[in-house]
This record gives sequence, structure tokens and C-alpha cells, in this order.
Amino acid sequence: MTNLTTPIEIARPAIIEFGSGLISAAGRWARAKGLSRILVVSDAFNANRVNLLDLPGEVTVFGEVKPEPDLPNLEKVLALAEQVKPDLVIGFGGGSAMDLAKLVAVLPGSGQSFHEVVGPEKVKGRKIALFQVPTTSGTGSEGGTRSLVTDPATQNKAAVQSRFMLADIAIVDPDLTLTVPPAVTAATGVDAMAHCVEAFTSKKAHPLIDLYALEGIRLVGRFLKRAVVDGSDAEARAGLSLASMYGGFCLGPVNTTAGHAVAYPLGTRHHIPHGLACALIFPHTLAFNAPVMAEKTALVLEALGLPASSNERTVFDATYAFCADLGVEMKLSKLNVPESDLETMATEAHAIRRLLDNNPRDLSRDQILDMYKAAY
Ligand SMILES: NC(=O)c1ccc[n+]([C@@H]2O[C@H](COP(=O)([O-])OP(=O)(O)OC[C@H]3O[C@@H](n4cnc5c(N)ncnc54)[C@H](O)[C@@H]3O)[C@@H](O)[C@H]2O)c1
Ligand SMILES: [Fe+2]
Repeated sequence: MTNLTTPIEIARPAIIEFGSGLISAAGRWARAKGLSRILVVSDAFNANRVNLLDLPGEVTVFGEVKPEPDLPNLEKVLALAEQVKPDLVIGFGGGSAMDLAKLVAVLPGSGQSFHEVVGPEKVKGRKIALFQVPTTSGTGSEGGTRSLVTDPATQNKAAVQSRFMLADIAIVDPDLTLTVPPAVTAATGVDAMAHCVEAFTSKKAHPLIDLYALEGIRLVGRFLKRAVVDGSDAEARAGLSLASMYGGFCLGPVNTTAGHAVAYPLGTRHHIPHGLACALIFPHTLAFNAPVMAEKTALVLEALGLPASSNERTVFDATYAFCADLGVEMKLSKLNVPESDLETMATEAHAIRRLLDNNPRDLSRDQILDMYKAAY
């Protein structure tokens, strides 16, 4: 466990612009910095509105980022970047687009392959500019140093972490999220909250980060239901954009724990969207950790607007109801996950030591299997 005297390092984009209607700040900054060969890395939805960025110069748009991007998806955009030779890469989309943009900014021309940079701080440097413009409220990837890409060979998410993948400028315009459908709003909102909760209850939790974590949870407690019910609620959208960014702040120096480890096989093996997977697993891991994190678990519930408790059963029931009330599908059996795969999923999740080793309570492979069975 850590305390106030434990050393910690935090890194943020040099400039973060936050607020409604800021979208054209991307073009303003590109002009101010004299950048004119621009590659926008985006998904199909956002690729159709790249004009909102008001970019100068020669603009190439890659609009094929897939949700939960895999290596072939990354290789395709890297090949385009080799041709374009941009001086600025902009990630414009959810976590999937922003994560690929980070790698597009550092890999081409570096002599390093993707496999050589997997892990912490393996990237040698970055020569071009990187802006990030999030359009979902979930990952907080705009403020972080990490990129997650699924390797089809192992069906695992490979994590690259590098200070060189931190954006020069993050432009967070909550109005961009007004179009996010209710189900994606709910799932991504719980993802943001899960980043905060898992960092807050991690073995590596730190007072410097706890501040963001607890406030992020509060914002989700206050605004997520509102945004799911009324997607045009600009204040709720802004609250969630902030929560998402705070969740991103939690990821760099502290990171997630069991919730994400147990959720990952749902995405990598069964293509369940990341946020939905996190929401489905969240009550199980929070309740499991409650006995060894009583005080912080009670604070989490309180921040969500639920009665404070650290009783395993009460914590499970209250947080399960919180997610179900958002319309999140909370049963694995309803998401086309075959029961016969639960054993393999448990083995895979248990092997994600980079996250599980920081969980406050040791979680065996069979306890993970029990969670999957309970969630089935
Ligand atoms: N880098 C990190 O620190 C970090 C943290 C958590 C998750 N992730 C990764 O991020 C990815 C998930 O990102 P995500 O949850 O933001 O989803 P996403 O980027 O995959 O987008 C989900 C869907 O929403 C659509 N979409 C995006 N913005 C929209 C908008 N404004 N209106 C309507 N539709 C919109 C996209 O086209 C896509 O179909 C996963 O691969 C996950 O592993 C990264
Ligand atoms: Fe996440």
C-alpha cells in the first residue's frame, strides 16, 4: 500500500482545452504551430465531421478505426501514415481512435515495430505533433500515455505505455458527445467510473490521484443517468467529459485492477464493447474487494449517490442496480458468451498480472470463474 510519502509522477498534455464549442481549437492550434500535413485518425462516425476541426493545409482522414482496434487495423493506418508523412496526427473519436493515433504518432519512421514497444516506456521518441479530441466520455485516453491494441494471435490486449504518446494538446469539447447513443453513453460512463474506482481502491492508490478518482466517481453519480435519459443535456455531457478525463488521469500513474482484468476477455474473445464489459463486471469486483477496502468502498458508494456500505452483499446489490438502472445488460448469457468459454476466460483474465497484482485482494483463477458464473 502507498501513502503520502510514496513517490509518484504525473504527466499531462501540455495544454488541455475544456469546454462546449471548442472543437475548432484544433485548427487554431495547427495554424499557430505552422502544422500543415495532417493525418486525422478516426472512426466512421467521426470521419464524417472532420470539417468541424477546421484544419488548415493538406488533411488526410483515416476513418476506419474499429471499436476495440486490433493489430491489422493499426497496420492499415500505419501504412497510410508512411505515405502521408504527417507533421501532425489528430486522434478524433473515442478511445479506439485516440489509442491508434498515439501509435501513429510514434511508430512510422522510428525503426521500431509494434511488438518492440509493448510494455512501459519502450518507445524511443516522437518527432511529430499529436493532438487528441475525444468524442466519447469513457476512456480518458486524451490525457494519458497508454494505447491498447488487441493482438489476434493471443486474443489479448497489448498495452503500450510511453511518455512520448502523451498529446501536446487535448481538446475536450463535451458537445461532441451529444450524439452518443444511450447504450454507449451508459457503458462508456461506467468505464470512466471504473477507472476512478479501481485506481482509488488499488494497492498503488495515491492521495494525489485519489482526488481525481473520487471527484470522477461523484460526477458519474450525478450526471450519468441524466445523460442516458436525455442525450441533449449539455451540462450532464460536460460533467461526464470531465469524469472521463479524470479517469484518464487515474490510469497513468496508478491504473486499473481486477475490474478491468476480469472484463478484458469479454472484449478480446467475444467483442463485447469495453465499457459494457466493465459495467457488467464492476459490481462483482467492487464487492469482492470490499472486505479489505472497507472505508474506500463506502466512499465509492457515497460518491455514486448510494447508501454508504462496505458489506459485500450490499455493495454488490447497490452497484448492480446502479448499472442495471442505466439500461446496461448485466448478464453474460444475453451477450452471446458461450458458457463453455468461461473456464478459458478465467485462465486468461488471471494471467493479466500487470493489473491483478495491484488488486487489493488476491483473486484466484477459480474466484474469477465464480464471478463469470455469477454474471452468466
Ligand atoms: N488509452 C487508455 O488509457 C484507454 C483506457 C480505457 C479504454 N481504452 C480503449 O478504448 C477503446 C474503447 O473506446 P470507447 O469506449 O471510447 O469506444 P470507441 O472509440 O470504440 O467508440 C465506440 C463506438 O462509438 C462511436 N462513436 C464515437 N464517438 C461518437 C459520437 N460522438 N457519437 C456517436 N457515436 C460515436 C464509434 O464510432 C464506435 O462505433 C477500447 O479499445 C479500450 O480498450 C483505452
Ligand atoms: Fe477502461
